[in-house]
Amino acid sequence: MRTLPAVTAALVLLATGCEKKSATPAAPAPAAPASVAPGGDSILVGEIFSLTGGQATFGISSRNGIEMAVKEANAAGGVKGKKLETRVYDDQGKPEEAANAATRLVNQDHVAVILGEVASTNSIAMANVAQPARVPMITPTSTNPKVTEIGDYIFRVCFIDPFQGFVMARFARDNLKLNKVAVLRDLKSDYSTGLTDVFTRKFTEMGGKIVAVETYNLGDSDFRGQLTAIKRANPDGIYVPGYYSEVGVIARQARELGLTVPLMGGDGWDSDKLFELGGSAVEGHYFSNHYSSDDPAPRVQKFVAAYKAAYGRVPDALATLAYDAAGVAIDAMRRAPDLSGKSLRDAIAQTKDYPGVAGVITLDDRRNAVKPAVVLKVGKDKNYEYVTTINP
Ligand code: PHE
Repeated sequence: MRTLPAVTAALVLLATGCEKKSATPAAPAPAAPASVAPGGDSILVGEIFSLTGGQATFGISSRNGIEMAVKEANAAGGVKGKKLETRVYDDQGKPEEAANAATRLVNQDHVAVILGEVASTNSIAMANVAQPARVPMITPTSTNPKVTEIGDYIFRVCFIDPFQGFVMARFARDNLKLNKVAVLRDLKSDYSTGLTDVFTRKFTEMGGKIVAVETYNLGDSDFRGQLTAIKRANPDGIYVPGYYSEVGVIARQARELGLTVPLMGGDGWDSDKLFELGGSAVEGHYFSNHYSSDDPAPRVQKFVAAYKAAYGRVPDALATLAYDAAGVAIDAMRRAPDLSGKSLRDAIAQTKDYPGVAGVITLDDRRNAVKPAVVLKVGKDKNYEYVTTINP
């Protein structure tokens, strides 16, 4: 059912990390209000994601989700008599590249809207370009509060980490009955830092104790020192608010060191690669996420079936929320009187009761969506078992 003729030309432009390193000056400052409505017969939608590098599955899933939404919109006649076209840049998971790509989308491509990133640190880098240029930006999945605080052109269609951190603290206390938890966090990630702060505060307020805090850097592959220190503190659970790229390895090394207590994390765990990296050591651990592909709701099952037919796998939260983010952008384009940055921004800001696959989307006055979270248990065969839903 997803074999509709694609009018979309999805251009994947690699953001040329290596050749630029030495000589290229920082991207030029955006010209004064660059929110020029795209001319011609198509409306340009910009995308920036990590399509290569450690977190590549984040970007690939997100791009797929947007591609589906754009194909559907074009098959339904497009927007304002024009077809949508996407321009995709790969930032390799690096904030500098995300900022450079945003500058290109704004100054050269003159996109109507920018969709991206996944990792909050990269979204913050992009938003610092989109906001002064007054080009609306919607992140599907960045959950750190700072992202949308950058300004009134920056939106998200997911919940934020003060809620996500609370969800896991609640789950750790009420469901797992944990008293002593250790934390292993990614030092330079806004996402990991934010979640650590909230989890620590909430878990402590709920009567629990944090018995050790250890750190690592994105890209590390040896966590034995930190895990040994954690083992000495004798926790009955470990909170690891990181990305799958490190969490899979952490789970494996924890198992090797004889740590058998449950690991807990957030949406950053969501990737098939978690299983490849962690093997059976990831089974039985828990993380909070945006949706469950097992949700029997018809709109979820319809999307899961369509995505599987198109891409041969179950959509993760990245794919689903990217589909929803594109849907919100397209819906706003239809309602906006014109596609200037200001008009489109205003229309996005008015999003109310948009029927997203990963939940109904109403944007609040801080441009965030307020939605429930699910807790999933990592099972066998690349499966997540739905455990519970926690409401805001
Ligand atoms: N919420 C994470 C961040 O802000 C990104 C993420 C979302 C990763 C959903 C996986 C799934 O950095």
